[in-house]
Amino acid sequence: MIRFPVLLLAAFTCIRLQAQRIAPIVIETQNASLVLTVSGNQRVQQAYLGKKINQPIIDKLGGGREAYLTAGMENQFEPAIRMVHNDGNPSLELRYVSHSSQTNGNVITTDVVMRDPVYPVDVTLHYTAYKAEDVFSCQAIIKHQEKKPVMLTQYASSMLHFNADEYWLTQFHGDWAREVNMVDEKLTHGIKSLDSKLGARTNFYQTQFFFLSLNKPSDENNGELIAGTLNWTGNFQFTFEVDQRNALRVRSGINPYASEYYLAPNEIFTTPEMVFTWSSNGKGQASRNLHRWARNYAVLDGKGERMVLLNNWEATHTSFDEKRLTELFDEGKKLGVDLFLLDDGWFGNTFPRNDDKTGLGDWQPDKTKLPSGIGYLVNEAEKRGIHFGIWLEPEMVNPKSDLYKAHPDWILKLPNREENYGRNQLVLDLTNPKVQDFIYNLVNDLLTQNPKLAYIKWDCNRSMTNAYAPYLKEKQSHLYIEYTRSLYKILERIRAKYPKLPIMLCAGGGGRTDYGAMKYFTEFWPSDNTDALERIFIQWGYSYFFPANTISAHVTSMGKNQSLKFRTDVAMMGRLGYDIRTNNFTKEDIEFTNNAIKTYKQISPVIQQGDQYRLVSPYEEDRAVVMYAEEKKEKAILFQYFTTPRRKNIFTNVKLQGLDGGKNYRIREINLYPGTKSNNPENDKTYSGEYLMSIGLNIAPRGLAMTSNVFEIIAQ
Ligand code: DGJ
Repeated sequence: MIRFPVLLLAAFTCIRLQAQRIAPIVIETQNASLVLTVSGNQRVQQAYLGKKINQPIIDKLGGGREAYLTAGMENQFEPAIRMVHNDGNPSLELRYVSHSSQTNGNVITTDVVMRDPVYPVDVTLHYTAYKAEDVFSCQAIIKHQEKKPVMLTQYASSMLHFNADEYWLTQFHGDWAREVNMVDEKLTHGIKSLDSKLGARTNFYQTQFFFLSLNKPSDENNGELIAGTLNWTGNFQFTFEVDQRNALRVRSGINPYASEYYLAPNEIFTTPEMVFTWSSNGKGQASRNLHRWARNYAVLDGKGERMVLLNNWEATHTSFDEKRLTELFDEGKKLGVDLFLLDDGWFGNTFPRNDDKTGLGDWQPDKTKLPSGIGYLVNEAEKRGIHFGIWLEPEMVNPKSDLYKAHPDWILKLPNREENYGRNQLVLDLTNPKVQDFIYNLVNDLLTQNPKLAYIKWDCNRSMTNAYAPYLKEKQSHLYIEYTRSLYKILERIRAKYPKLPIMLCAGGGGRTDYGAMKYFTEFWPSDNTDALERIFIQWGYSYFFPANTISAHVTSMGKNQSLKFRTDVAMMGRLGYDIRTNNFTKEDIEFTNNAIKTYKQISPVIQQGDQYRLVSPYEEDRAVVMYAEEKKEKAILFQYFTTPRRKNIFTNVKLQGLDGGKNYRIREINLYPGTKSNNPENDKTYSGEYLMSIGLNIAPRGLAMTSNVFEIIAQ
C-alpha cells in the first residue's frame, strides 16, 4: 500500500533530476573535442579530451574527473585552486552555475561559471577553441565578495585529465648557450614537475612547453598527444601527477612558489592562458597546429614579413665608435641586408658602457663613442638604404650607473642584506609605476626623437635573486606575479602607440620564449650559441612550438670548420640575419651572401608562413632534414644538414610530406656557393608528389660533416 506513493515520489524526483541535468558542454575544434559534464552534485567534470567525437558518443559519455579540482575538501591530489577564506577556513567547493558560448568566426569561447555554496566565491573557466588550428586555451577567472582578502596559494590556469596505459613526457631543458635539449621519459607514479622560479629570464633552465604522449612515445607522424605551453612571462609550473589508478592530472599555471596571493573583495584574478593542441598524428601535426595559431593569433605581426639584419654584437661587442659603425653600415649594404641592429654598448657617460660592469640604466648615447647621437646613425644608415635598430635592456641597472645612484628605491633587493648580482647587474622594481613610466619613456623618447628607428632588441640578462620589491612593502608574495603584470602593462603602452614596430625578445639567449610575451614581439633570440652545428639542434627544439618567422638565426663566425654556406643554410631556416665581420670575406663570400639574401627573400614566404615538416631528426641520425611546404602545395623548400656523419651511416631516402600527390614537382638545388655546381643525384629531376611522399628522395649519397643542401621543390 505504501509502495505506490514511494514509487511515485521516486519517479517524480527522477524527472526533476533529469530536468536539471545539464547537457554536456562541448568545446571543439576541427579534429578535437573537450567535453565537460555536470555531475549529480553539480561539480564540473572533464568527461573527454581527445580526437573529435560525435554527438551520439558525447551523449553516452560517463562522468569524468573534476575540471578544476579544489583543495580542503575530499580531493586528496594536487588541486587546481587552493583558497584560505578570511575566517581561516581552507576549503573550497565549486558548483556549476551556468555556461555560455560565443562564436566569432574561427574562434569560439566558452565560459563555465562555478560558485561555492558556502562562501561568496566565483570561478569562471574561460575556454577558447581555435577551430581550424585545433588549438585550445584555458584560463581561470577568480573573484569573491568576502569582507576581507582571501589568500590563494594555488591558482592554476588549467587541470587536464588523461586515462591511458602509459604517459610519455617530452620536456626541453637547458642553460645559457645550450637551450632546448629534448628529453623523452615515461611518467611513473607520483608527481613530475617542470617549473621556473627565476622571475625574469624565466626559461633559462627549462623551456615552458611540453608534449604529453598517450600510451606510447610519439614521433613526428604517429602518436596521440597534447602539446602545451603557458602564456606567461614569469614563473610557471606544470605538474604531472599519476595516481594510484594510473590516471594522470596535468596542472598548468603560474608557479605559486613564494607567491601567496591576497585577493581583495571584487578584485579579479585572471590566470594566464594555458594553450594546448591535440594531435592524433604525432608531434609534427601538433607543431603545425601551433605554428598556424601563432601566426594567426599569438605573435605580433605573425603574417608580416621579417627584415634581414646585420647585428654588431659578435663582431664588435661594446668596442665601437661612429666610424666603425658607419663602416659596418657599408658592410651591411654590401651584403644586402635590410637593417643594421646596434647592440649593447652605445650608452652611458658618467659610467660609459664599455663592458657589462657599468652604465646599464643610463640610456643617453655615449658622447665619446657616439658624439653625433642616435639620429646621426639612423640617417647614416638610411643614406646607405638600410634601416637602423637599437638594443635595450630596460628592466635592469648596473650599480655603477647614474640611475642606481638617483633611485636606489627602484631596485629589487633585500633592504638588510648584501646585493646579489647577475652579470654585474640588478633588476628594476617594475611593480613601481615610476619605473614603468621610466621604461615607457625610454622607448617612447627614442622613437619620438628618431621616428625612423625601425627595430628594437629588448634584452633581459639576469634572473631574480634576493627578490624584494620596495614598492610592494608588506605584499612581497605578490612580487613575481606583479613583475610580469607590470612588464605587460609597459608593453601594452608601447604597443598602443607603436603597434607594428618589430621588436626582438631576448633574454641572454633563449631565457624568455613564451607566447605571453610574443603578442608584443615579432621574433625572439633563441640562444647566444650561434655555432651552426649547435643551432641545428636549438632551432629544431624551438620549432616544436614556434614558427620559423619568430626564430632569429644569425650567420656568425662562431662555428669551427664550418663553411659560410653551411652557416647560411642553417640560419635560413629561421629569420635570417648576420652578426659577423665581413672584412675577411672573399669576393665569392660576398657574392654568395648577396645571392643568399636574395634567395631567402624569394623563399622566406614558404619558410616563414608554410607548414613545417621535420623529416629526419638530428637526435636520430647524423643529419637533419627539414621541409617547409606552401599551404597551396605549389612550392616547398627542403634543407638537409650533415652533422657528424661516420662511415657506418647509411642514409636512406627521405620521404617528403605536405605535397599534392597528383602534381609533378621539379627538384632543384639552390643557394650554391659561387663556382660550384650541384652534384646531387636528385638535382633537376621531376617526380610526382605521390612518388616523393612514398618513395622519397635519395639526397644523401655521401654526407660530409657540416655540409648542407637547400632544395627548391616546385609544382610544374
Ligand atoms: C645577451 C644577448 O643574448 C646578446 O645577443 C647580446 O645582445 C648581449 N646580451 C649584449 O649584452
